[in-house]
Amino acid sequence: MNQPILVAVAWPYANGYAHLGHVAGALLPADIFARYHRLRGNRVLMVSGSDAHGTPVTFEADQEGVTPRELFLRYHHAFAQSFRELGLSYDLFTHTDTENHSRVSQDIFKQLLAAELIFRKPAQQLYCEHDACFLPDRYVYGRCPVCGFPNARGDQCQNCDSVLDALELGDPQCKLAKPGDPPHPVVVRETDHFYLDLPAQAGPLLTWVEQQSQNWRPNVARFVRNYVAGGLQARAITRDLEWGVPVPLPGWEAKRLYVWFEAVIGYLSASIEWAAHQGQPDVWKDWWYNRQAETYYFIGKDNIPFHAIIWPAMLMGVPGLYDDSQEPRRALNLPDDIPSNEFLNVEGRKFSKSERWAVWLPDALARYDPDPLRYYLTAVAPETHDSDWAWSDFLRRNNDELVGTWGNLANRVLTFAYRNFDKQVPEAGSLDDVDRALLASVEAGFRPIGQLLETRQFRSALAEAMGLAREGNRYLNAKAPWQQIKTDRAAAATTIYVALRVIDSLKILFYPFLPFSSQSLHQQLGYDDDLLGALEIADYDEEASRHEALVYRQSGSGDRWQPSALRAGQALREPKALYKKLDSKIVEEEIARLGK
Ligand code: MF3
Ligand code: ZN
Repeated sequence: MNQPILVAVAWPYANGYAHLGHVAGALLPADIFARYHRLRGNRVLMVSGSDAHGTPVTFEADQEGVTPRELFLRYHHAFAQSFRELGLSYDLFTHTDTENHSRVSQDIFKQLLAAELIFRKPAQQLYCEHDACFLPDRYVYGRCPVCGFPNARGDQCQNCDSVLDALELGDPQCKLAKPGDPPHPVVVRETDHFYLDLPAQAGPLLTWVEQQSQNWRPNVARFVRNYVAGGLQARAITRDLEWGVPVPLPGWEAKRLYVWFEAVIGYLSASIEWAAHQGQPDVWKDWWYNRQAETYYFIGKDNIPFHAIIWPAMLMGVPGLYDDSQEPRRALNLPDDIPSNEFLNVEGRKFSKSERWAVWLPDALARYDPDPLRYYLTAVAPETHDSDWAWSDFLRRNNDELVGTWGNLANRVLTFAYRNFDKQVPEAGSLDDVDRALLASVEAGFRPIGQLLETRQFRSALAEAMGLAREGNRYLNAKAPWQQIKTDRAAAATTIYVALRVIDSLKILFYPFLPFSSQSLHQQLGYDDDLLGALEIADYDEEASRHEALVYRQSGSGDRWQPSALRAGQALREPKALYKKLDSKIVEEEIARLGK
C-alpha cells in the first residue's frame, strides 16, 4: 500500500495510427499492471506521450506535403482519443514537442557534457549537393551491403533487416529527389556531432546489467547480454535536421538532439510536467529519487537497447538533477524491470505499414468494444515469443470465453437474483461444503493472481481468473438454483448468495484486464462508486503554448484487491449483458480488410 510505482510506457512515433501490435507489445500490459497497483492502493504514476520528432515523422510529413508539426499533431490527437477509448490509464499522455520537454532534455545534455560523458567528434556523412543538406539515414537508399537488395533504406534494409549505416550503401541515392527528376549528386562530407560516451561508463553499466538482468524476462536479459558482449560503442546523439530539440550550444543551430536521446528523457520530463499540473512541482521526486519506488518500462523488443543500456547510462550520468537537497548528490532511479514483449503478427504475417498489413486501433475500436480487444490481446500476448492475432480465434474466445463463460456466469446469477429475490442480494442459509469450497477457492485466487500480475505474467493471470469463472459455472450447474427454487426456496437463496459473492470477487480479479465490464458489473451489483478513476482529454496550459493531453483522474483509495464482502439486502440494478456475441461473418470481413 502506498508504494510509489512508476509505469513508464514506450512513446509511439506520431507518424501513423496506433495498431494492435503497439497495444499488445507495450501499452496494454502497462495499463494492466498500473490498474492492478491502483487497486492495491499503491501510488502509480503512468506516463508516456507521442514521440513527435525524428525522421520517421519528418519523412512521412514530406511524403504527404505537410509540416512535421501538422502531421504529429494529427496523430497525437488520434492517440489520445483511441487510448482513452481503450481505457489506458495514463496519468499523463503528453508529447515531446513541449517547452518543458525541450528544457529537461537540454539540461540533461548540458549536465552530461559537463561530466565529460558526451564528446564532440567529426564524422563522415552523406550530403546532397542539390538540396544542400546532410542526409539522415532514412533519407538515403541504395544497395544493401549485406544482401545486395538494390533499394535498401539507409538505416535498415527492409529485405534482410540488417541495421545499416547509410555510408555502407552501394550507389547511395537522395530520397528527396522527386520521381522523374535526375538523381541528386550525393557526396561524403565531414560534419561535427556529439557522442554519448558509453565506453566511459562501461564499468558501472555492466555491473548494473549483470545484477539487474537476473530478474528480467529471459528474452530481454539474453538480448541485453548479447548487446553488451558485442562491445559498447559511443553513440551519436545529434543529427542534421531542423525538426526536433535544439542542441543548446552556440554554433549548433542547424542540428538537433537525436530523437532517441531526447525521447527516453520523456519519462522524466512527463513526470515533471505531471507534477507541475498537480500544483506540487517537486512530487515527481517520489518516483525518481525515492529508493522505495519501483520503476518499470513497458516496451516492444526493438526498443530494448535504448531502455536497458542508453537510458540507464544517461541516468547514471546526471546525479542530483533538479535536486540540490542532498549531498552527495542522489542518483536517479534506474529501471527495476523492462518487461519487453515480442511481436504480434496478424493472421500469421509480420506487421507491415507499407503493405497495410495491420489492424489499426481506431478501426478496431469503431467495430468492437474495448474489453474484448483487451481480453484477446492479453490472452495471446507475445510475452515470451512472437504470437498471432487471428480473427477466427478472436471470435472464438469472445464467444466462448467472454460471452459463454464469464459473461454468462455473471448474467445468469444476476438475472436469477433480480427476478426471484426481489431485486436484492438474498439472505443465505447455512452453507454446505460445496458452497464453502467455491468461496474458498475464489478467495484463494487473489494471492496467486496478484503474484502473477506483480511479476508481469499477464497471460497466466488472466487464464487463472477465467479458470475461476469456469468453476463458478460448474457450481451453478451442479446446484441448479432454477430447480432448487421449485422445492426449496432457502436453498436457492443460498446458492445465489454464494454465486453473487463469487461474481463480485471475479469483477475485481478481472478488473485490470476488463475495466469497462467490471465497472458495469459493479453497478449492476448495486454499488454506486467508480472502482477507479476516469480518463479525460485535457487542454494543458503550458507556459506560452497549449497542448492536448490524456489524463487519468484518480478516485477510490485503499486496498481494493480483496474478496467480496457483499451483504444480503443490497439492492441490485437491472442486469444487462456484459459482452456481445459476435457473428462469424466478421472473420471473413476483417481478413478481407488486411492489405487494403
Ligand atoms: N518512438 C519509438 C518507437 O515507436 C519508441 C520511443 S520510446 C522512448 O519505437 F522511450 F524513447 F520514448
Ligand atoms: Zn537530394
